[in-house]
Amino acid sequence: MSLLPRTPYPIVSGSRLAANIQRMQALATHAGVQLRPHTKTHKSPVIALMQLDAGASGVCCAKLSEAEIFADAGITDIRLPYPVNPSNADRVLSLLDRVTLSIIVDDEAVAAEWSRAMTAAGRTLNVLVKVDVGFHRCGVNPDASDVVGAITRIAALPGLSFRGLLSHAGQAYNAESPYALAAITARETGIMTGLATRLRTSGVAVEEISVGSTPTASFAPSQRGITEMRPGNYVFLDRTQVGLAAATYANCALTIVATVVSRPAPDRAILDCGSKTLTSDGARGFTPLPGFGAVFVDLDSVEPDPTIVIDRVSEEHAVCRVPEDSPLRPGHRVRVLPNHACTVTNLMDQLWLADDQGALTPLPVAARGRIW
Ligand SMILES: Cc1ncc(COP(=O)(O)O)c(C=O)c1O
Repeated sequence: MSLLPRTPYPIVSGSRLAANIQRMQALATHAGVQLRPHTKTHKSPVIALMQLDAGASGVCCAKLSEAEIFADAGITDIRLPYPVNPSNADRVLSLLDRVTLSIIVDDEAVAAEWSRAMTAAGRTLNVLVKVDVGFHRCGVNPDASDVVGAITRIAALPGLSFRGLLSHAGQAYNAESPYALAAITARETGIMTGLATRLRTSGVAVEEISVGSTPTASFAPSQRGITEMRPGNYVFLDRTQVGLAAATYANCALTIVATVVSRPAPDRAILDCGSKTLTSDGARGFTPLPGFGAVFVDLDSVEPDPTIVIDRVSEEHAVCRVPEDSPLRPGHRVRVLPNHACTVTNLMDQLWLADDQGALTPLPVAARGRIW
């Protein structure tokens, strides 16, 4: 009987994971900023504790249900850079009993609701105001005529402790060159420090300026004035990060081991990992990266085979275009580097952590599916 897990299964290189954690921590330390990793990528308290041991100041979670899992694991400083709705005040209050918690707001009426809920409970909630630095998802418009007034009013609300400003330059994922990436980061820094200066000038204390994403992280040393960075993807990295020059293939820690289950035509091979394993996310990059993952033709290949393209995924099939002389036959095992690691882990109950000898240890994805 084989002791190896059945395919498809996710494998995490322990040495690459450790190196990624150390590299980002060294970058933050060198830049003189706190590192507060986003845990949405791994959803694993075990990995969060490795990040904290390496020097992280706390963690981020997207959702309260994730935060509850990390709090259960003994993690005591959690930030939710997500516009949590005040209908969840009961859950926030119960988390406040056991962790230092902060959330973001980008709306005066919502902030006032949080203020009422906290005041009624006799508690104080740390908040940062989310600023839109060009991603156009959430956040106050830094160019709005009353933005300083609005943040000043939020900062004065009882039951809230205004900590500062927070941004996520998610448009970095659409950058078409390293120069564009650098320009996006510089613009984020300018907007955030400029707004902080205006607030400070009008008497509002801005203790924290929190920014962060993996593609922009390497520019952190040039982001003068910021106090915190919040990358998440960097622990595993993925094909998109390689496409954005934020990683090399040799840095990527998470891959999927898959088996060829059919070779129905000379130019087509089918893997047993479809959208329920790889997701349907496309890859981003400075140049277009076709397909649903990069295929390493053997388990120990160091570079993916560019002649194999995962053209399509259905739920349990990856349809690969292959050269006619490809060695892929039913039973052959490959590794696939996902386009987007963060969505892949949310499909897995557990990952397999591999040591340098190839021994595998189960690593539960404890916050998997915690999306509420
Ligand atoms: C608000 C926020 N902060 C930080 C991050 C981490 O960025 P990345 O996934 O590029 O590491 C994300 C990612 O989605 C995010 O939405």
